[in-house]
Amino acid sequence: MKTVILDATSLDSFDRTIEEGADLLRKGELVAFPTETVYGLGADAFNPRAIESVFLAKGRPSDNPLIVHVASRTDLAACAYIDRRAEILAAEFMPGPLTLVLRSRENIPPVTRAGLPTVALRIPGDPVALALIARTGPLVAPSANLSGRPSPTRAEHVYHDLHGRIAAIIDGGPCRLGIESTVVDLSGEDTVMLRPGLITAMEIERILGQRLASIPADGQAPRAPGMKYRHYAPSVPVRLVIAPEPPALSDGLRRLILTTEQHRELFTESDIRLLSEHDLYAAFRDADRLGLDEVLIYATPGELPAGLLDRIQKAGEGNGEGV
Ligand code: TXA
Ligand code: MG
Repeated sequence: MKTVILDATSLDSFDRTIEEGADLLRKGELVAFPTETVYGLGADAFNPRAIESVFLAKGRPSDNPLIVHVASRTDLAACAYIDRRAEILAAEFMPGPLTLVLRSRENIPPVTRAGLPTVALRIPGDPVALALIARTGPLVAPSANLSGRPSPTRAEHVYHDLHGRIAAIIDGGPCRLGIESTVVDLSGEDTVMLRPGLITAMEIERILGQRLASIPADGQAPRAPGMKYRHYAPSVPVRLVIAPEPPALSDGLRRLILTTEQHRELFTESDIRLLSEHDLYAAFRDADRLGLDEVLIYATPGELPAGLLDRIQKAGEGNGEGV
């Protein structure tokens, strides 16, 4: 299969691109598209055969459910049972980088939610994604990477991982945010954060006027099936150093250093970049492409936001499979 690139970066081609992408999706084809977090691999959420091909194209374990992306808050209620907490969070943060896990309605095919009674829902805050979903109706969109690779934040990352496996990629330029949405589980009485992101636990607690429950402790089944798999990892080892002083580097390894603005001058090596959500995954992919020995990330204690820290830690773990 030849993967076509559809351009949504210029006004001239925008409408035609959305039309072509929507046509392919309606036929059950897979089309990657930009969201404000990362690129998603789109497929018709109501077409079980299209969903199966998403798992195949990514090499994703079939017990890991997909997020259903909708275009409006009213469409949320067509897919799941909305309680007061969901209403409050949706009004505050949607469209935006937040995914809610809710009790699913019957119309969502079991394969989409990996057989669970719940469904994850999100309204992306990106004009390309919203225009596309407004045409097609609900789309699943897992991150458009090969399972286990870092999520793609540019169209060329998607092409690198999935060309030949999917019908098209809509190029909307680099993603505005760069790490995946915050996932909050509202399907039970407790409100549980399953995946940290740019919308923080503190913001959610403030809006709801309620404390979040902690994620089940080690040894218990993970509440988000995806959490048990390896994520976001380049092939190059990722070493995170959180300490008051930077590590001494006299070993001659070829490395990329990522650190915050205030520590930049502590390093004399040449390849130093600013550490940010926006550029983290692109840096991982560059390090792989250049065949470096290590990505070294340095910060002082308490300096890194939870979402960024989570992605770096997962990239450093290197065990299990991936999504
Ligand atoms: O920002 C994002 O959320 C991106 C963009 C493309 O929208 N999508 C994304 O999808 O990151 P994915 O499939 O790579 O990650 C979805 C996460 C997985 O960890 C999965 O296990 C969890 O959400 N999840 C999905 N449905 C769930 C459910 N019903 N219950 C618990 N966790 C669920
Ligand atoms: Mg993913």
